[in-house]
Amino acid sequence: MGAELLSASEGWELACIGCGSLAETELPDSRCRKCGDLLEIAISRDVGGPALFLGNGPGIWRFRQALPFPPGIEPVSLGEGGTPLVRTKRLASSVGLDKLYAKNDGQNPTGSFKDRGMSVAVTRARTLGAKALICASTGNTAASLAAYAAKAGLYSVVVVPRAGVASGKLGQAFAYGARVFGVEGNFDQALATVFDLVRRDERFYLMNSVNPFRIEGQKITAFEIYEQLGRVPDYVVLPVGNAGNISAIWKGFKELRKSGVVDSAPSMMGVQAAGASPLATAFSTGGDFKPLKEPRTVASAIRIGNPVSWKKALRAITESGGRAVVVSDDEIMAARRRLAEDEGLLVEAASAAPFAALTRLKLPRGATVVCIATGNGLKDLSDHGGEQRIESAVDGQSISNLVGKGLSIAGTTLG
Ligand code: F0G
Repeated sequence: MGAELLSASEGWELACIGCGSLAETELPDSRCRKCGDLLEIAISRDVGGPALFLGNGPGIWRFRQALPFPPGIEPVSLGEGGTPLVRTKRLASSVGLDKLYAKNDGQNPTGSFKDRGMSVAVTRARTLGAKALICASTGNTAASLAAYAAKAGLYSVVVVPRAGVASGKLGQAFAYGARVFGVEGNFDQALATVFDLVRRDERFYLMNSVNPFRIEGQKITAFEIYEQLGRVPDYVVLPVGNAGNISAIWKGFKELRKSGVVDSAPSMMGVQAAGASPLATAFSTGGDFKPLKEPRTVASAIRIGNPVSWKKALRAITESGGRAVVVSDDEIMAARRRLAEDEGLLVEAASAAPFAALTRLKLPRGATVVCIATGNGLKDLSDHGGEQRIESAVDGQSISNLVGKGLSIAGTTLG
């Protein structure tokens, strides 16, 4: 693969989070050549301070000064980012908060936050001359990779657990033209298979969130939240699976602080499902991380036992004064239903986890809290809405009779 290196003279470097050494290139599995730890993109230049917000253009590329490319690069973009920040007042009052918001990343082009990072990483892949892109996935990364590879005219391969991926997500990957491979086992086995392949076959460029360019796209969420709120929130609450997004959003807030735009940063609250919570366990045991062999949860997107970015995520939580917590599957499904029925927000199960956690977190009433609604519920309606019973309508009168005299929702009569 022809290498276009990150240039220190342009203010970007690849730094190892373990040994701290600066790398010119990464290994095929996106790791440090010296010690094998994860890499991240370090910025040694001013990303623009307040001028960062004067850029124009849609979505994440509005902030291109903060993205690691030389000026003039043409992005591989489908219009990702720039998603709405929606105030959820009814939900807020039920969990004892005044200012609760949902960052609705399900409105990205393929329906999840993955598109932010994928746009940046596929743009990078194209500058490297990559021909074939690969990822392991619980579904959303697969859909996103397939779409951006299609847009860039590149070949895409996705590796998924053979069972348990939402049919809407798989359908997307097929529709965008990816080759889809299934492994017996869970996401962790799929990712191990992908690592094995990229180490053997240099035609494939790795697109999981160990790829530091993915993180750069996802960090833009922090800039958008700051701009939409007009301030930095006190808490950002989000689901944690492979642990890339929490690391990315924290990186964004740190860069904002470093650039002098703000002088504070939110506490990052990572939420995992009780049956798939290696990070929350590590947090509660003081940093002692142990992978979990058989992760189990209804939230298939975050059914992960060995999150590759656990170290970055723990660092984000500790540095920010945050916490890692667990919620049960029942709490996740109840929160998912409430979001839809009380707020008109249809999210997938994993994305309901942060809202479910609010009851447990007991944040101060006056705090400004942003939950990241990471993925669109349309991708996985299989387990939604309880009973889907279509009632028979013979004519208008029959509907009027069946509805009856009082229009009541959840015990409240509307009229
Ligand atoms: N929410 C959704 C909807 C996801 O799809 C994922 C991860 C997460 C949260 C967790 O984000 O991994 O950065 O901690 N989905 C990956 C995938 C694993 O393959 O689509 P994370």
